[in-house]
Amino acid sequence: MPVPVGIIGAGPAGLLLSHLLHRAGIESVVLEARSRSYVEQRVRAGVLEHPTVQLLDEVGLGDRLHREGLRHGGIHLLFDGQRHHIDFTELAGSAITVYGQQEVVKDLIAARLAAGGDIRFEVADVELHGLDTGRPRISFTQDGQPESLECQIVAGCDGFHGVSRRSIPAGVLTAFEREYPFAWLGILAEAPPSSPELIYAYHERGFALHSMRSPRVTRNYLQVPPDEDISLWPDTRIWDELQTRLATAGEPALTEGPVIDKGVTPMRSFVVEPMQHGRLFLAGDAAHIVPPTGAKGMNLAMADVRVLAGAIARFLQDGQDDLLRAYSDTCLRRVWRAEHFSWWMTSMLHCFPDADPFQHQLQLSQLRYTVSSRAAATTLAENYVGLPIEGR
Ligand code: FAD
Ligand code: PHB
Repeated sequence: MPVPVGIIGAGPAGLLLSHLLHRAGIESVVLEARSRSYVEQRVRAGVLEHPTVQLLDEVGLGDRLHREGLRHGGIHLLFDGQRHHIDFTELAGSAITVYGQQEVVKDLIAARLAAGGDIRFEVADVELHGLDTGRPRISFTQDGQPESLECQIVAGCDGFHGVSRRSIPAGVLTAFEREYPFAWLGILAEAPPSSPELIYAYHERGFALHSMRSPRVTRNYLQVPPDEDISLWPDTRIWDELQTRLATAGEPALTEGPVIDKGVTPMRSFVVEPMQHGRLFLAGDAAHIVPPTGAKGMNLAMADVRVLAGAIARFLQDGQDDLLRAYSDTCLRRVWRAEHFSWWMTSMLHCFPDADPFQHQLQLSQLRYTVSSRAAATTLAENYVGLPIEGR
């Protein structure tokens, strides 16, 4: 029996799509290369925009998020040793919620499995066939056995390195890309947050970010050279560098604690247009990447599938393909806004290796303007808390 929707990837995009389709009465199968415990432990993003929280509430996934998530009404920008507060509640009328991506993934997997959802973990050799036809097919292996899934629609939710985007014939997609001459070294530490809200720091030694996951766990990042060898960063060096870059006049030093996870993330901006070919629809990181400075990656992934779920339901239930045809354009408007915001935050807050003193003064001027002009602060606030999801 063909399955209506085959979904590649059990990240936030693929799992939420499967959940939304289930609520619309549409069955799907999710194929995931990794194990359940791997995807539930993978430490990544941590900030949910206001529209993302609204969406999760609407679809019955808000309980633990509201119990355990941390609602933040603003962030701090730190430069010249001084912290400046950007008040989202006052400027944009809403807030963000700090809740780890792996917690969102755990909630989604639990909801899908409780509803009898079909998620196949640890599949291999996924290949897409017949995307130009009305009956695409996904072949894969599970426990060494070859399997095949006929579908009406394939959703490519398999992240930047997945197979979906690469299955589209050459010449169909246009790619837009920018690489940055630095990466982020991220740590998770058993240490209580030293600030009630996130601190984004511009320092002559490089960017730093103080974030958190709970009242007992902090998440911190340091700008490092691209492809930095993590063995060069013993925990004591990481803490020393965080203390230097995040030092604030009149505030105590950061509270330190054991490092429980660490890794280096490259920084890239990337978009393909269109986010579709035949019966294959790309969503999330499979179609676009942002540098993490604007905290947009996971939010964009979930906004895409909100639009896609509605379009698929209209197609499969009403026989109308207008929303599917509009899918890419609808998503790309939001994607490009987030691309611009993430690039802007990244450019304002990092030290570029080729920057001259003129560039440094420009960045400082932009930071001073952002924290002193209500108009500029509002631009940051409304982009950070998230613009409404279109196509609802
Ligand atoms: P993913 O979460 O990448 O999910 C894709 C899934 O597809 C994965 O589970 C993968 O195992 C699976 N898959 C891949 N290939 C195949 C295949 N061939 N067959 C079957 N399954 C496959 N954003 C922030 O805002 N802040 C951060 O700090 C941050 N840190 C990040 C760190 C890293 C290392 C990475 C890679 C991303 C980070 N991001 C961050 C971005 C954010 O996590 C992503 O935007 C978000 O995960 C996108 O969700 P997704 O569902 O589109 O893709
Ligand atoms: C995080 O907590 O992991 C985080 C927060 C804000 C960002 C990026 C990552 O901009």
